[in-house]
Amino acid sequence: MERISQQTIDEILNAADIVDIVGEYVQLHPAGKNFKGLCPFHNEKTPSFFVSPDKHIFNCFGCGEKGNSLAFLQKYKNMSFTEALKTLADKYHIPLEIEMQKGSDDKTKRLYEITEAALGFYTLSLTNLASGKPALAYLQSRGLDVHTIQYFELGFAPNDFDSLYQTLKPKYQELDLLELGLIKKNTEGSYYDLFRNRIIFPIRNEYGKVVGYSGRIYEEKNDEPKYVNSPFTSIFTKGEILYNLDRAQAAIKAKKRIILYEGFMDVIASVKAGLKEAVASMGTALTIEQARLIKKYSDRVILCYDGDQAGFEAMGKAIPLLEKVGLDVSLLVLPEALDPDEFTKKYSFSQYAAFVEANQIDKYEFRYRYMKKHTDFSKAAEIERFKIAMFTYLLREASGTVTEIYLNHLADDAKVNLETVKNDFTSFQISQSLSKQMADKRVKIANVVMLNKYYKAELILIAYYVHDSKSRQAIINSLSEMFCEDPLNGQIMMCIDELVLSAPEVDIASIVPTKFSDKQDQVRLVLNFKTGDYSDQELNECIDTIKIRNIRNMIRDLKKQQALVNQNIDMPEYLRIQNEIIAQKQKEELINGKSRNHQKID
Ligand code: CTP
Ligand code: MN
Repeated sequence: MERISQQTIDEILNAADIVDIVGEYVQLHPAGKNFKGLCPFHNEKTPSFFVSPDKHIFNCFGCGEKGNSLAFLQKYKNMSFTEALKTLADKYHIPLEIEMQKGSDDKTKRLYEITEAALGFYTLSLTNLASGKPALAYLQSRGLDVHTIQYFELGFAPNDFDSLYQTLKPKYQELDLLELGLIKKNTEGSYYDLFRNRIIFPIRNEYGKVVGYSGRIYEEKNDEPKYVNSPFTSIFTKGEILYNLDRAQAAIKAKKRIILYEGFMDVIASVKAGLKEAVASMGTALTIEQARLIKKYSDRVILCYDGDQAGFEAMGKAIPLLEKVGLDVSLLVLPEALDPDEFTKKYSFSQYAAFVEANQIDKYEFRYRYMKKHTDFSKAAEIERFKIAMFTYLLREASGTVTEIYLNHLADDAKVNLETVKNDFTSFQISQSLSKQMADKRVKIANVVMLNKYYKAELILIAYYVHDSKSRQAIINSLSEMFCEDPLNGQIMMCIDELVLSAPEVDIASIVPTKFSDKQDQVRLVLNFKTGDYSDQELNECIDTIKIRNIRNMIRDLKKQQALVNQNIDMPEYLRIQNEIIAQKQKEELINGKSRNHQKID
């Protein structure tokens, strides 16, 4: 752990030229003794972003972002405080090391020395030991030549109990070796090596330090895990490292992109194919820290996990993480469920490189293909499921243009008319908006979310009103036909009423929606809200619910009136309103009592 004193932080901040630092990313123009430019933190056409060299700060009068050089880097480059500090210390040649807590700094140095030494042991074992021959032969059988093996510093952990331990023991402490997970202690108290009889992939961090290893079996054995990794240590957290990021940096800069793979062999294949901007998340469980690490070096990432089902699913999960840190994400789906390494074997390295350039797709296309893969287009129900899944996705993620493109694809693939698909999409959109609207009409009672009972009662009463003349009369008698508070419900009731008078024989439920030009589907949903039987009891309960709502509205209005009456001047009026409120409350009591009795009888 590093601790940097306030004194050093101040020194760095004083040395840092904020105009220079901000100027690397924002075009600045002199404005008096300050500089100004377009704010990088919000969209603007006229500059309101100022940098003050005297005060060492930036300040945007448009969006309010302000701070010193460190804050700028943290915000703009997505850096942590320490990262920003290190960047500035490097830039202005201020030694940070002296400030690191002496003990822990020494220890980290020591650990790195050991990881290098262990790597030396592993790489020598692969080429120089007789027992390394089968491992070397295995790598060669997978197409790795000597040059590649050397470049990736592949090694071999002999099938001995403790040969690494014996080699390192004279120079290094057991405690450090234990901490790095390179050795373990058995019940008899002897130390033994963690990696035995495995090919070793060294894992370096972004700065090129060896922080851990992964050991792969080289003979197919079902009872052993394919890879064994270094445990979590003070210098190694698998989820915070990207394999090969140290070596990939030049290519990343040149190509302005990173290709993100699952595994070691994929990265190796990619590099051999000339795509050196390759890193691996070492498994499919991409973390937000890894996403941030990518963003630190590039704004664009091409995600290329295995072309199998698991790879597909993992990519689906990784996309939002990568987008969350602001990365522009493309995807590469390999054919025939191949992984990149297999692709280069089955075809060739140059065909792989060509495939990567020609087959990057965006997230919409990825989602579409993914869902399509799981759909049997000879079955209507499957098409329907595919359609709804795609509609849901488009509504959430896509613009009108993108939506239109995929509705076209959908019509083609399902072999139906484009107009039909478009109509379906519109209905879907409205039904979603109605259920959103209903969400506004929801209340939370004892943590159970339900539809607001008044709104629900309106929907049910409309159904009764449409359903038969007897109910209709009962509703008019106890409530009047203007019982709806919801504006759309009110309009629907007016329309029903008109039809009841002018054309009593028509099928109201199918005619009413046609009277609403822009909200037909929504109206249809309202009219189809109630399913199930009709009963006098349900009708009466809904009528009572609305009655109570009306009474409560009335009481609320009366209380407002009463508040305006000055008791000292107009006591009689005050009391009249008071009595009215009491009368309304009694009415409510009566209805409540009646419905309680209902319940008892049931
Ligand atoms: N991995 C791991 N631990 C495991 C399995 C996998 O850390 N038990 C990581 C490794 O980084 C591996 C990556 O996940 O490279 C992808 O796994 P997999 O596809 O199984 O391995 P490949 O890299 O394809 O290796 P190979 O081609 O040799 O099977
Ligand atoms: Mn793989």
